[in-house]
Amino acid sequence: MAAPMVERGEDAFRTLFKFYRRKHPPPDLNNVVDFSKGIVCDKVLSTNLELSAVSDGEASRAGLRPVRDWRAFGLQGSPGFIFIANPFLRGAQPHWLRRCLKTYTQKPNVCNLDMHMSPAETDDIWGKSADILRKAPCGKKEPKTLLEKLRWVTLGYHYNWNTKTYSPEHHTPFPADLQRLSGLVAAAAGFPGFHAEAGILNYYRSDSSLGIHVDESELDHSRPLLSFCFGQSAIFLLGGTRREDPPTAMYMHSGDVMVMSGQSRLLYHAVPRILQDLPPPCGLRTTLSKGQGSPEQGVSGEEGVSGEDWAVCSRYIQSSRVNMTVRQVLGPGQSFPGVPKGSAPEGEGEGGGGERRRSSSGETESSDT
Ligand code: OGA
Ligand code: MN
Repeated sequence: MAAPMVERGEDAFRTLFKFYRRKHPPPDLNNVVDFSKGIVCDKVLSTNLELSAVSDGEASRAGLRPVRDWRAFGLQGSPGFIFIANPFLRGAQPHWLRRCLKTYTQKPNVCNLDMHMSPAETDDIWGKSADILRKAPCGKKEPKTLLEKLRWVTLGYHYNWNTKTYSPEHHTPFPADLQRLSGLVAAAAGFPGFHAEAGILNYYRSDSSLGIHVDESELDHSRPLLSFCFGQSAIFLLGGTRREDPPTAMYMHSGDVMVMSGQSRLLYHAVPRILQDLPPPCGLRTTLSKGQGSPEQGVSGEEGVSGEDWAVCSRYIQSSRVNMTVRQVLGPGQSFPGVPKGSAPEGEGEGGGGERRRSSSGETESSDT
């Protein structure tokens, strides 16, 4: 069945969200924009980047190709939305994926498991899951590992899901390597001086989705929001500034990076579906499908991902997707309301909240999806 023609006003976004989330029959994906194929329809525009904002050496140290080799696109009607089709060097995605699974899951970062487990139980999510994941499946249904139960991790200013705010009291150091990567991407997109202060990492299983929301909790909306995708492809819906504006559906493949800035910083968006078994779109899946051993390319001066670690990452990612969103919370010289200037913690910040909700089978689906 083709994507339904929906009129503005009947909550076109909700209708399309349900259309793409549907399991039976699976939705027709013919109307989904695929930036990895270039300018294939009149909705897709090419976008110029700041070629001199990032040196080749800086890019390479973060695992990125030279900016002149990036393929960047815009979307008709969404100024400030920039889609960069997998700018990563071969072998760099496994590095970042391992950071998401092995490093950023460690304390003092905060994750969904902390909400109902003791600190000792969530102390070493990777260590408690790795051996089990590394072993081949034996056929019978095994209890889920902590990694498989992981849904989100917050970094820097930790997003408060209840109040939808950030606060200076709940802050831990933002990972320096992700801060550097984000600064480079933002500079190439025309935002020099971007300072990553908060991160929300989303861990999707094949039945997960992310509800319709706007990311408005940050106090300075003139700074872009960055999004990095790894693992299985997904459908992303990008709507308008009003909840009822009909969205555009697009693929997000492993390695893709999105920048929401300017007029597109506060657009409604959602992830209705995680896909599986599309043709290999990128380095990560090629690595998987070709059965190559551990990726050779080191990033940030680190050794490449070892075969042992890659066995865990590749096993996890066969049925999962990881997304990192990076935000600057405070503008230059800005402070949280009620907090005197200059008293913010070193290096980070963030604020506010949209209606972000997650769901996957077995969990309560949100009312707004
Ligand atoms: C978010 C978000 C998109 C994604 O975390 O705010 O919109 O692809 N994530 O996970
Ligand atoms: Mn979002």
